[in-house]
Amino acid sequence: MAEILDGLKVSKEIKKEIRANVEKIVSGNRRAPHLVAILVGKNGASMTYVNNKIKDCEEVGFRSSLVEFPSTVSESELLEKIKDLNQSKEVDGFIVQLPLPKQIDQEKIIMAIDPRKDVDGFHPENFGKMALEMDTFLPATPFGILTLLERYQIDTKGKHCVIIGRSRIVGKPMSILMGRKDFPGNSTVTLTHSYTPHIEEFTRNADIVITALGDPNFLKANMIKDGAIIVDVGITRVEDDSPKGYTLVGDVDFASCKEKAAWITPVPGGVGPMTRAMLMKNTLLAYKTSVYND
Ligand code: GUN
Repeated sequence: MAEILDGLKVSKEIKKEIRANVEKIVSGNRRAPHLVAILVGKNGASMTYVNNKIKDCEEVGFRSSLVEFPSTVSESELLEKIKDLNQSKEVDGFIVQLPLPKQIDQEKIIMAIDPRKDVDGFHPENFGKMALEMDTFLPATPFGILTLLERYQIDTKGKHCVIIGRSRIVGKPMSILMGRKDFPGNSTVTLTHSYTPHIEEFTRNADIVITALGDPNFLKANMIKDGAIIVDVGITRVEDDSPKGYTLVGDVDFASCKEKAAWITPVPGGVGPMTRAMLMKNTLLAYKTSVYND
């Protein structure tokens, strides 16, 4: 029977630590850190994510602003806004919620963000620094997973870590971070994806499985080994008759895997709240390293 990697509990501890830090800053007559979120269109999941980010800012004592554009916004309008935010002395960090509508070149948008304000850690400069183990903003989800493994003192050294999914937001950075020379890290990493045949042959040999697939209940107990550590990044909205109209379901068949694993993250209450807390951590870091706040 697995023990729970309780992301909700750890995220609350982290937000408390950040709040204490902000109270110290503000009591010294300095302004609070300020995060701006850009939301384009009315995608339900994106709206929820962004609203949660604004709520988190309130909880830790940050200032926050939401900038909304219709889904018909042009690339140049968006680039103009990014330019303003890059130059603003009042803004420490900002994020452009993904995905973006088809007429917008996502790469162009990410490249336009000042790396010093890129609290998502998506800019190639920050991604490159991460890969080279230099200090930088780590993407929030991988950062959250590392922090969860760290707080529970999960031994990752020399372990075989299998990651499912190679997205730029989760799988790819996670594969780099688990292989870095640090704790958590020093794992032997296998990055699997949609063209990997017989994924179960990899996952059955894994000490640590990290799934970021978006395929509800994909990972079954017969695909993992006894005592494995299972981290579930998946959060798919599965429609049902509940009052909300959907339930959030992870990539891991929790009911069967929890009987076999040593440690497992729940959905909800695992990686999701950790991701949210790490965006706050990155924003505090952006504030502390800002050229405007010496
Ligand atoms: N869409 C899904 N996850 C994320 C995230 O972490 N940051 C941004 N900007 N968009 C996302």
